Amino acid sequence: MKTLSAVKEKRLLEPGIENVHRESLEWLRTISFWKEESMFYTDFINNSMFQNIALNDKRDVADLINLILGDRLNKIEKDIRQHEKKLIELIKESSSDVEYRHQHKLLGNDFSDFEKQMAICKKSVFELFKLVNFKNTSEVINIINNRRSVRKYKKESVEKKHLEQIINAGRMAPSAMNKQPWKFYVLNDSEKIRSYSTEISKVAENILHLSLKSLHKEEDPIFHGAPTVIFITAEEGNEWAPLDIGMCSQNIMLAAKSFGYDSCPIGLAKAIEKTSVYKELQIPETEKIILAIALGHGNENPPVHPRLTNNIVYFN
Ligand SMILES: Cc1cc2nc3c(=O)[nH]c(=O)nc-3n(C[C@H](O)[C@H](O)[C@H](O)COP(=O)(O)O)c2cc1C
Repeated sequence: MKTLSAVKEKRLLEPGIENVHRESLEWLRTISFWKEESMFYTDFINNSMFQNIALNDKRDVADLINLILGDRLNKIEKDIRQHEKKLIELIKESSSDVEYRHQHKLLGNDFSDFEKQMAICKKSVFELFKLVNFKNTSEVINIINNRRSVRKYKKESVEKKHLEQIINAGRMAPSAMNKQPWKFYVLNDSEKIRSYSTEISKVAENILHLSLKSLHKEEDPIFHGAPTVIFITAEEGNEWAPLDIGMCSQNIMLAAKSFGYDSCPIGLAKAIEKTSVYKELQIPETEKIILAIALGHGNENPPVHPRLTNNIVYFN
């Protein structure tokens, strides 16, 4: 049984309520920093530099960050804020602080536990960092390896300053006899893109008799919800134009990737020529659509289609 003096002694040893409050504020400051840190690590892991690292390794660390920093950090922050509110009530009502102190201790345990997890998380990121061979990494190769045909997009639009540079990259492609046969028709109107998609999919089904799995499943089965579509045309009769525009398109898709956007080449978009909405694009009769490119912030991470490797012959 505790004696009265032992209880008194314990109370005297307890930190003053201002110190408890100060500690809560300190936790909130640290949590706010951890949040920034976690965003930094996530960007870092998603950087193309890590392409050369085994995908599994990459995913493990990303999962770890998500697991530790995801909801748990938000929950601890919320709990501490509520705890702080209780302190205000406690002071107003001059009631006992026993329960408040008990809760503070529990939150303190949560906080230190989280701090330990955070250390593990950081160590994993550092380990990953060590695996990157910066000297033998080419940013261009990383971007080439990271590009995928992406078929899910966020609503967020492509920034104009980026779009201009992306199209300029297309213009820098080589072309037979330097004809630069490309012309770009850029559509940034999501509503229009979706309605064109519907028209094209009708043509694909009824005239071209294509049966695409996506036609009935997706809201936008042709442009996959991308906020920007670039139709690339060339004058009819230039036999090299499709090759030139292929190169131009690849430049566009890689430049887009370098700014953090995703893309998908859309051959099916040619079918817009057979729809009633085609005239809205005001493409002169002498031009033909060679390819379209869907562009935007991707909302999926498709796996790499493994590349065939039995297609090379070395001499000597
Ligand atoms: C000329 C061309 C036309 C394409 N047309 C379409 C298309 O209409 N719709 C689509 O979803 N993907 C289209 N693709 C994307 C291919 O399906 C994709 O490039 C291929 O599956 C390889 O995947 P990856 O780009 O992710 O490496 C096209 C690709 C090329 C090069």
